[in-house]
Amino acid sequence: MKEELFDFGMIGLGVMGSNLLLNMADHGYAVIGYDKNTDKTKLLESNAGKDARVRGVNTLEEMIKSLKVPRKLMMLVPAGAPVDSVLEDLKPLLQAGDIIIDGGNSHYTDTLRRIDELKPTGFHFMGVGISGGEEGARRGPSIMPGGDQEAYEKVAPILKAVAAQVNGEPCVDYLGKNAAGHYVKMVHNGIEYSIMQLISECYDLMHHGLAMSNKELHEVFKKWDSGEMKSYLLEITAAIFEQKDDKGKGELVDKISDKAGAKGTGKWTSQEGLDLPIPVPNIDAAVMMRNLSSLVEERVIANNIYLTHIEKIDIPKEELISLLHDALYFATIISYAQGLAMLTQASGELKMDIPIPAVVKVWRGGCIIRSALLDVFKNVFQEDNYKNLLLNKNIAQVLQLKLPALQKVVSLAAGNNYAASGLMASLNYFNAYRRHHLPTNLIQAQRDFFGAHTYERVDCEGIFHTQWESIS
Ligand code: 6PG
Repeated sequence: MKEELFDFGMIGLGVMGSNLLLNMADHGYAVIGYDKNTDKTKLLESNAGKDARVRGVNTLEEMIKSLKVPRKLMMLVPAGAPVDSVLEDLKPLLQAGDIIIDGGNSHYTDTLRRIDELKPTGFHFMGVGISGGEEGARRGPSIMPGGDQEAYEKVAPILKAVAAQVNGEPCVDYLGKNAAGHYVKMVHNGIEYSIMQLISECYDLMHHGLAMSNKELHEVFKKWDSGEMKSYLLEITAAIFEQKDDKGKGELVDKISDKAGAKGTGKWTSQEGLDLPIPVPNIDAAVMMRNLSSLVEERVIANNIYLTHIEKIDIPKEELISLLHDALYFATIISYAQGLAMLTQASGELKMDIPIPAVVKVWRGGCIIRSALLDVFKNVFQEDNYKNLLLNKNIAQVLQLKLPALQKVVSLAAGNNYAASGLMASLNYFNAYRRHHLPTNLIQAQRDFFGAHTYERVDCEGIFHTQWESIS
């Protein structure tokens, strides 16, 4: 009897890869996974439900010959050289028309290069961002596909079946040409960095500024997560403050080193922001703070030199908590605004045609930055294609309302030696973005003074240079 072929193949059976395959199997797809490691293939099969068609194999050849043609396969391997190496291994095994999805966090320029390199083969290659971590992959991630639209249409039914659903709509959609999928995921991660930084600053101001216990912090974040700011990141933050340390007394959070790690996607977003250029100062601040957190020894020495005292802030507890709520709400909107403005700019600049309303829809569920705010933004972009969320009058109203809280929080933080880089970046961005006149006319004058770099005038067209009076 001829063995039935499989619908979808996965290369790389780490937790994400196997969870995504099991998710597909739950939706009735016959799936096959490849990994060199036999423990991983066995684990995949043993985790499958009894009616699911799931197989694990240890050679690529076996997987490729077991797939329906055109083959649909995804790789979830570490970004960089491993992706190129898998593609090299696949080249002799596949045929024109087969679809290969890179579902990892690849840099978008690598994706562009791979699309070009694979053109002569006739394979369809797509860069697809996937967010939601292990749990998301198993129960429903947010999926950000870009590139080959013909290939997308062929894999769309599977992706729609496994993606998170919000109000009956799957959190997946075609998000643009070329490397748009990986670009959108990169910016998603930049926003993720920014919001995490903001939450950590609120934690600092409550923990040290109000001497609040972990139990109290849990209660505050839980409350914030039940209102207008409801989000996955607030939900997990509330849960973190409850987690007991299994190696000693108290809660785990207090035993974790403050040296923050990073795999690079936040830094890429900042770098791209500078290159476009489009300002994303909240993302820059978040990346910078992770880098600064690594300077552990220097921070200890500096602390002794400056005898910095992080003191209790002299303000009624409930008042500061309420101010922080509004400041975080404001700064979170600013974080999304910067990321979405960056996508808008990059979409044209890099010829990706990214549909921003679709991005917002796809981010509503399954991903790390999912939040009630995305529903608000969805309505904003239904109205018009704003270059920046801040130009929408409903968003403007919310920001005006919350602005005094952010101003107060920033001044309290500054006056009490707190490094609230994200909150401060949000306020600075807002103050600069809404100004008709910035002091940059002076910078233009200076540039022209020392370097004859020329300037434009406010009262007539043209490019000007002045012989400035020299310094006596
Ligand atoms: C997601 C996450 C995921 C990963 C981050 C972590 O959307 O599911 O963003 O991609 O957890 O890359 O990034 P850092 O290690 O750089 O914090």
